[in-house]
Amino acid sequence: MNKQAPYYQTIGKEVEVFEHAYKNKIPFLLKGPTGTGKSRFIEYMAYKLGKKLITISCHEETSSTDLVGRYIIKGAETIWSDGPLTTAIKQGAIIYLDEIAEARPDVIVAIHSLTDHRRELFIDKLGETIKAHEDFMLVASFNPGYQKGFKELKPSTRQRFIATAFAYPEAKIEAEILINETGVDAGIAKKLVNIATKIRNLTELGLTETVSTRLLVDAAKLIHSGLPKRLSVQVAIVEPLTDDLDVVEALKDLCNLMI
Ligand SMILES: Nc1ncnc2c1ncn2[C@@H]1O[C@H](COP(=O)(O)OP(=O)(O)OP(=O)(O)O)[C@@H](O)[C@H]1O
Ligand SMILES: [Mg+2]
Repeated sequence: MNKQAPYYQTIGKEVEVFEHAYKNKIPFLLKGPTGTGKSRFIEYMAYKLGKKLITISCHEETSSTDLVGRYIIKGAETIWSDGPLTTAIKQGAIIYLDEIAEARPDVIVAIHSLTDHRRELFIDKLGETIKAHEDFMLVASFNPGYQKGFKELKPSTRQRFIATAFAYPEAKIEAEILINETGVDAGIAKKLVNIATKIRNLTELGLTETVSTRLLVDAAKLIHSGLPKRLSVQVAIVEPLTDDLDVVEALKDLCNLMI
């Protein structure tokens, strides 16, 4: 591989855990709120292990057909086309089912036989069972209690994975992420992290999701590219968080004081 390594700041033992999960081919679940580095982590691990990564962003219309494959009409012929999951199984890639709880129930059914000792996929349209390549690994992410309608994962599904929780990193590490990711100076990085910490502690605001590392990265990028600091924080941190005008005003005042 000649691609540049994705930048990922290790937070805890997640790299080590993932390496062992991969060695044992145990499915891996990344839990945690938006913008906490789940996608970046899996990109990094795939790179580190030298494996191809196939990512599927699951949404409420995602069905097992989308993952497994379908017949398509080509000219006068009908031919079978492997879906991304089937491709990953055959090639020995890592498949990442992002926001797996959003997908339709038949997706969960389809992966069950892949996530236990059988490691195989039954393709009903072909009447065929395929064994997973020994390098194949299944990874999924899940934002607990965050999705609309609180879609949950059944215990029988959850317990097929080992799981690691992702959260906002401690202040020093988060500032380092901002510096490395955007080139912003240490003083600004520290102020942005202080703003985030402050807002994260304001639970009385009742925000559905609070300031993520992603929002801080965006703010730092804008500042680094020369947009005024207060404006950067307003558009990258405050406005994405809420549409409640009173809350916006209160947060703007707070941020103006802190940046
Ligand atoms: N540990 C980390 N190391 C490097 N960058 C990070 C880290 N954590 C967060 N980031 C930054 O935050 C951004 C958002 O992270 P990422 O897209 O991985 O979040 P996510 O957890 O997958 O979110 P979502 O649930 O919304 O998909 C990244 O693009 C990166 O800039
Ligand atoms: Mg993601």
